[in-house]
Amino acid sequence: MRFRIRLTSLRIKIPLLMAGLMLLTIVGTVGMYFLDYGFFSLTTNGWSRGEKAHKARIAFEEYLQNVHHEIHKEDVHEFCSQKSFDKAFITSTEQRYENITTGGIGPVFIAANLYNSENILPNMALQLLALADTLGHSRVFISIYENGSKDKTKEILGQFNSTLNALGIAHRIRTDEARRPEHIHRIEYLAKVRNLALEPLYSTGKKYDRVLFINDIYFCMNDLLELAYQSRAQSTHLTCAEDLITFQGRLGFYDTWVSRDMRGDRVWIELNRLSKDEITQQAQLKNRPFQVQCCWNGVALIDAQVFQGDDGLRFRRSAEGECSASECSLLCNDMWKRGLRRAIIVPRVKVSYDMTTRKLLREPVNFPADLPYNTPEDEKVVFRSGPAKVVCNPLNGVDTDTPDKTKIYVNI
Ligand SMILES: *[C@@H]1O[C@H](CO)[C@@H](O)[C@H](O)[C@H]1NC(C)=O
Ligand SMILES: *[C@@H]1O[C@H](CO)[C@@H](O)[C@H](O)[C@H]1NC(C)=O
Ligand SMILES: *[C@@H]1O[C@H](CO)[C@@H](O)[C@H](O)[C@H]1NC(C)=O
Repeated sequence: MRFRIRLTSLRIKIPLLMAGLMLLTIVGTVGMYFLDYGFFSLTTNGWSRGEKAHKARIAFEEYLQNVHHEIHKEDVHEFCSQKSFDKAFITSTEQRYENITTGGIGPVFIAANLYNSENILPNMALQLLALADTLGHSRVFISIYENGSKDKTKEILGQFNSTLNALGIAHRIRTDEARRPEHIHRIEYLAKVRNLALEPLYSTGKKYDRVLFINDIYFCMNDLLELAYQSRAQSTHLTCAEDLITFQGRLGFYDTWVSRDMRGDRVWIELNRLSKDEITQQAQLKNRPFQVQCCWNGVALIDAQVFQGDDGLRFRRSAEGECSASECSLLCNDMWKRGLRRAIIVPRVKVSYDMTTRKLLREPVNFPADLPYNTPEDEKVVFRSGPAKVVCNPLNGVDTDTPDKTKIYVNI
């Protein structure tokens, strides 16, 4: 009797099971569609929004490919996906950055100032979209302030703007006709435009974890992930790349006006003689991060608390009687005064401003396959108390763009 009942119920269960499986398949397919096109496709305008976003993205990538090819005669995807390029770095990527990409860092505010930047912009836009995909669209804000460009910069930014709109990535792309006024001090102007790029950071009222400030450079998404990874692993307030130029046919370090080592001296142009500080020099040779008093170097990741809050810092020109340094040096010094002193350079992250240097960066000699493998323990920076004085290279003149007075040591 019991046995029979069981058999009957089993017979009823089989069609039920089939129906269940079918339902699951349908839910699964719908789910995949969801993941593909972003969650909020359904929550806002229904299906069409997701599809539109997808199409906008593809169209924008095609557009970037064409612009980039027109300027550089190369594939916009090529550089960052080169298999031979720092292989260990790229193959270890997924695991290395897992913490970062699964919520290890909070929302990132990305800021850039652009002017006649058509050379670097297609790559920059593509890499920023990749970063947004990796971190999650809701975890980035992209803010760009552009002024007075005469090339394709404004046009590309217009397309980028529409794409970000379609993808639902929070952003503010501001293109301005305003030119740098005559007879304004260079640093006063640069501080002003940098603060303009940061504006939405204050006006949105949202709390950010990191601010990523990017110059007009060529970079890859992995470079940004590495900065994020190091900032987390080393608990830094300021984390910088190395920005390279071609110097006597070789790679040289560019941002010597801003970078200061732990002796307060300039970080030097020659990569194998960057600093007279032994710890710094050894770290550089071993491709490990090292502490500095100040850096910027094309791209800097900054603890957002530096800018946010009632007494958040701003970029500024030197005050009366203060040595006329770069707005980035002054930010470092202001952070230093507040005890926000954990600044590092990550030699592994190498960015460039021009095509010649970018191509040199791909040469195996500059990224040898036997680069020392550094464990997180090897890379751990032991923070020191640092200098009491730093070198300042003053830029006093109003109508000059380069330092015009001999260097002096200033108290910090
Ligand atoms: C990331 O790593 C930090 C410490 O290194 C840890 O505190 C945090 O919980 C990790 N986050 C995730 C999402 O794994
Ligand atoms: C970007 O898109 C917004 C929203 O459509 C628009 O208000 C703004 O003017 C656009 N900016 C640029 C530079 O295209
Ligand atoms: C726009 O701003 C940049 C700084 O981001 C500056 O170097 C440039 O001279 C400005 N362009 C014009 C046309 O004023």
